[in-house]
This record gives sequence, structure tokens and C-alpha cells, in this order.
Amino acid sequence: MAGHRDAEQKALQSSMKSVTGFKGKGRPKIGAEEFMSIAERFGLSKPALEKIQSILAEEDLGAGPFLANYYSGLPESRVQAFQRVARETFGSRYAIGLSSGTAALHAAFVAVGVGPGTEVICPAIGFFATAAAVVMAKGVPVFCDVDESLHIDPAKIEALITPRTVALAPTHVMGSVCNMPAIMAIARKHNLKVVEDCAQSCGGKVSGRYVGTFGHVGIFSISAYKIVGGGEGGLLITDDERLWDRANCLSEGGGLWRPERFAPPRYEGELFCGTNYRMSELEAAVDVVQLSKMPETVGRFRNVKRQITGRLKTYREIRPQTLNDPEGEVGYTLRFFPETIELGQQISKALNDAGIGAGIRGRNGRPDWHIYHDMYPITLKTRSGADDCSFHCPHYAAKGGKIEYRLGDCPVADDLFDRVVNVGLNQWYTEEDCVQFADVMNSVLSHFCTEDPSAKPWR
Ligand SMILES: Cc1ncc(COP(=O)(O)O)c(C=O)c1O
Repeated sequence: MAGHRDAEQKALQSSMKSVTGFKGKGRPKIGAEEFMSIAERFGLSKPALEKIQSILAEEDLGAGPFLANYYSGLPESRVQAFQRVARETFGSRYAIGLSSGTAALHAAFVAVGVGPGTEVICPAIGFFATAAAVVMAKGVPVFCDVDESLHIDPAKIEALITPRTVALAPTHVMGSVCNMPAIMAIARKHNLKVVEDCAQSCGGKVSGRYVGTFGHVGIFSISAYKIVGGGEGGLLITDDERLWDRANCLSEGGGLWRPERFAPPRYEGELFCGTNYRMSELEAAVDVVQLSKMPETVGRFRNVKRQITGRLKTYREIRPQTLNDPEGEVGYTLRFFPETIELGQQISKALNDAGIGAGIRGRNGRPDWHIYHDMYPITLKTRSGADDCSFHCPHYAAKGGKIEYRLGDCPVADDLFDRVVNVGLNQWYTEEDCVQFADVMNSVLSHFCTEDPSAKPWR
């Protein structure tokens, strides 16, 4: 019977046509044109572009790469390499490359347990994304005032802690660093998690240790405007496997990172619906190189700042920013507080006229997302829909939570943010440039202020 059926099958097959082979030759999905598009984005000259094009014409690109972490076809994808270099650089056990610093903050807050009915203490000066990510995680940001370092004032944190507080989110601001030992002591005392936002101070150190490694989680923005980064990217580091798991779950919604993707959760809180905040291979290809250059970049900035501050005179009417660790500064800005805004405006203008880039916000300055009272989506407690569960959450109300945000909540930040004069530094200044820079600053400051060797020194 079976033999009869086989014979029938063979007869059927021989009476039908079968494929003899297709002639169409595939071209790579991502080929020379896309490569050229990147080269053009670099702004290369026409002859340079033509040279690249002629080289590419001789290359066989095969079927073309997928520029995704999971399907790179390489023994180590560029994202994996970026994560490895991050682990090696910061000495952390885990690192995740993400699509932005904001994504890293969101993943970090969810990982440490921010959710409906919880609060996170954020600095009055930092960046909107930190507080926004608390809200994205369905928590409520509570702003803490700063001190003359322009960083969160550890002496003011404890008064803001409530039974709803789950985390502290110190932000290292504009190349400077927070007082991490004091912050960690408060966190330990109250059993709080710490998410360090290092977006603006990648490479900064406190007592010789990188910022981002003190807290339970450290996050970085790896965007074009930061010390490390080519376009848009983020980085999260931690030593805690559970926090790494949960941060991965938020940023890899499909559970892709798990040893067994479809296995049931290994513990409560391991598996939940997340986002796709993955870093692309293109971004990682740039960032892995950028990150490995970071120590040298920071070293140049530090060196320039040290050379300049070492030559600056001290003045009665201005106070240099307090530095929590002068040796650990990244040092891409020099900041000081003049007695009055008017004096700051005069100094700032004179510095600019003399060829040194300086700025002051001044009274009634333009809205700025680096100061709490201008972070309107937070201060107005906006929401994307009726069910948003942050400020308006029934769990929050049930735990006695109620928050209003007003200008004046953080008076030191209000004052210092308007009055601070920011002077930009360039990592590529030569010794001669530094001497010139300091001489010009001294001459401008001497014009408006009184030299006073006993005034607060520059660090
Ligand atoms: C302190 C701080 N945190 C977070 C972010 C957000 O990073 P990203 O723009 O990569 O989302 C920034 C960006 O400027 C920042 O300055």
C-alpha cells in the first residue's frame, strides 16, 4: 500500500515544475549608500567622500549587517563592547547601553522600586529628565535645595524624607560632583536607594572613585552634548544583579536578556511589561570609542582648569563655587557668584567682550529646564491621561501624599541659579592659552572688584 502511494507521489512530482534556481543577486540590506550617508553626515569634503565611495565599490558587503545588538552576527556586538568598556572603566559588575539618559533614568527608577505612591528626592538644580523619569515611573519628585556647590545640600535631605520616600536622586552638575559620602550615609540610615545622575559629569570622581559607583545605580547620558557620546544614548551601571535584571526588563520589554526568554519569572518583580530602550549598534560603534577616550578627555579638562584657577586672584565681591572634590572635577566650566546680579552681568559682558565665553541667567531669565521651578510638566502636575498615576494617584493620596511646587520652595537654588556666572573652558587650551585666559579674567575682575587675598579661593 505504502509503495503504491510513493509511486503516485513521484508521478505527481515529475508532472509538476520545480525550481531550477533564481538568477536575482541580492544586494546588502544596509549597503554602500547607507555607509555613504553616514560619511556625508560627518561633513566630509567631496574628495574624501569620493575616495570612500571608490573603496566601497571594490568591497563585497555580502547580505549586509543588521545594526541591532541581538542580531549583529559578531562574536561581540558593538553594544556588548560598549557595555564591557563601561564595566571595565567604572569597575561595575553590570552595564546596560540604552537609547538615552532619560531612558536610563526611567529604567533605574523602576528598578529600585519607584512606583505609585512613592517619592524620590531630586535636586533643585539638575535637569528636568531626572524628575520627569520619576513621574514616568509613577512616583512623585520632591525637590531638595542646593548649597554653594550648586549640588543637593545633604543637610536639607532628611527633612524631606517621608514614609513614601524610596530613593534619592543626586545629580552631578556641569562637570562637578555631589557630596556622595554624606548622601550615602543618609541613604543607609533611612534604607533608601540612590540613583546617581552623572549625565553632566561623566568621569567625575569623589575621593578618587568615579561618580555613578557610589549609588545603587548610576546613569549617564551618552548624547552629543556630553563628555562622552556621538548622538543619542544612555548608560546604566550597577553592582546589583536584581537591579540589573529589573532595569533590563524595563528597557527590554520582551525579556530578551533572560537566560530563558519564555521561562516563568524566577522571582517576583523579575518580569513585567517594559519598553524598547535599546541602544543601536550604530550609536554603540561610536560610543565604545568615545568612552575609551573619556579618561584622557577628563584629564585634559582638569589640567586646563587647574592651570587657570592656579593663576586667578581672589576678590571680595565674588565667591567661587564650592567644590565637593576639587581633584575629582571634570572641570569644563568655571563658576562664581558675584554679590549682585548686576555685577555679574557687567563682568559677564566684559568677559565676552574680551573673548572669554561667559553667561549669567539674571533676574527673570528665560525659562530653563535645569532649575526646578521652570520644569513646568512637573510643577503644573500635568498628565497624559485621566489615569496617570503619579501626582494624582489614589495610592499616593492614601499614603498621605500631597504635593505642590512653587517658586521659593528652594530659596538657595532660586538665588544662586540666577546669579551664577558660568565661564566655559576648552580641553584643548595650551599652557600659553591658560596663562592668557587667566590674565584676561584677572584684568576683568580687577576692574569690577576689590582684590582681597583673604577672599574665598579658587579651586
Ligand atoms: C542631568 C541630566 N540628566 C539626564 C539627562 C537626559 O539625558 P538624555 O538627553 O540623553 O535623555 C540630561 C541631559 O541633558 C542631563 O543633563
